[in-house]
Amino acid sequence: MNYILGIESSCDETAAAVYDLSHRRIVAHHLYSQATEMHEQYGGVVPEIASRSHLEKIDTIIEYTLQQAKISLQEIDVIAVTNKPGLAGSLLVGLCFAKGMAWAQHKKFIGVNHLEGHIFSSFLNPDGSLNENITFPYLCLSVSGGHTSLYLVKDFGVYDELGSTIDDAAGEAFDKIAKLMGHGYPGGPLIEQLAREASFQDFYDYPRGKNKYTSYEFSFSGLKTAILYDMVKRNLYDLKTGINHTTLTREEQQKVASSMLVCINDIFHAKLKTAFNQFPETQGFTIVGGVACNKYLKAQLADYCAKRGKFFAAPPPAFCTDNGAMIAFVGSYKAERGEFDALSLDVFE
Ligand code: KG4
Ligand code: ZN
Repeated sequence: MNYILGIESSCDETAAAVYDLSHRRIVAHHLYSQATEMHEQYGGVVPEIASRSHLEKIDTIIEYTLQQAKISLQEIDVIAVTNKPGLAGSLLVGLCFAKGMAWAQHKKFIGVNHLEGHIFSSFLNPDGSLNENITFPYLCLSVSGGHTSLYLVKDFGVYDELGSTIDDAAGEAFDKIAKLMGHGYPGGPLIEQLAREASFQDFYDYPRGKNKYTSYEFSFSGLKTAILYDMVKRNLYDLKTGINHTTLTREEQQKVASSMLVCINDIFHAKLKTAFNQFPETQGFTIVGGVACNKYLKAQLADYCAKRGKFFAAPPPAFCTDNGAMIAFVGSYKAERGEFDALSLDVFE
């Protein structure tokens, strides 16, 4: 057993990657993202459009990835594919394609949980090799546009969820506030840029939530509403007509964005502090998912980990957002343990 092909199609990215078991590295990865091109005009992912696009792109993406890896489909030993969670129609395209290939070419087959893919994505270095600094057990914050969860990670594939968001995900909160200020998707990078222009100062002291130290649950819906009403109070936003273009200057946007980012950073720190105290055996901390692209959050959290004598790791941006590499990687340790699935595996199973 040598090469694992990973396939990801749970949302709006059609992605593939090849993992080389003997050299322990990703040798090629490639994706097509529908995000800006197809869904922007609707303000979110349209499931029907997403699954049709996966159907159109998947064979080309896989073929190109194999070409980049300089191997043929015959040389692939295992096909690993995301089968949950995600949009049913999108998942089905990747899953059916993977099953078809596995059946026709007599390959071993593995279904991968997308969230597990994100958790272990921090092991991937930018060049596809593995990060040797990560040691178990450790804490992982998985934070994207769709999910925000804190995990205690004990081994490859072995992890407990300590808590997750009870309403919006953190990325979603960035996206919604950016939208409120008149900007498009994704909002996270713009909020970071605006916050940088304001030197990451806290101007408005937005609410952190009463239970920031006492619970592992996250809640960002209240923060979003608090920011909205604060903007209304400052005459930056009119609930009936929308943005007040005369008062929502770049400077005001910088202040809102900076205060918001500092607030979310504060919430992450509080949860991490509580978890490090409750689980002193943890060796370090990783942040994964789209929001892990945020350089300010990474620098702040890395600093805190260093102070506590813990390691810090985050995947490179290409492996923060949805990708095939993390699926191939999860496939690799499952394959080594002989954890294969039957071709009857369905989505969400
Ligand atoms: O992982 P991902 O593609 O989302 C899901 O699959 O759910 O991540 C996208 C999310 C968006 O909410 C986006 O605003 C956020 O990640 N994001 C950021 C940054 N870059 C992307 N959030 C904060 N700062 C960033 N630099
Ligand atoms: Zn994802």
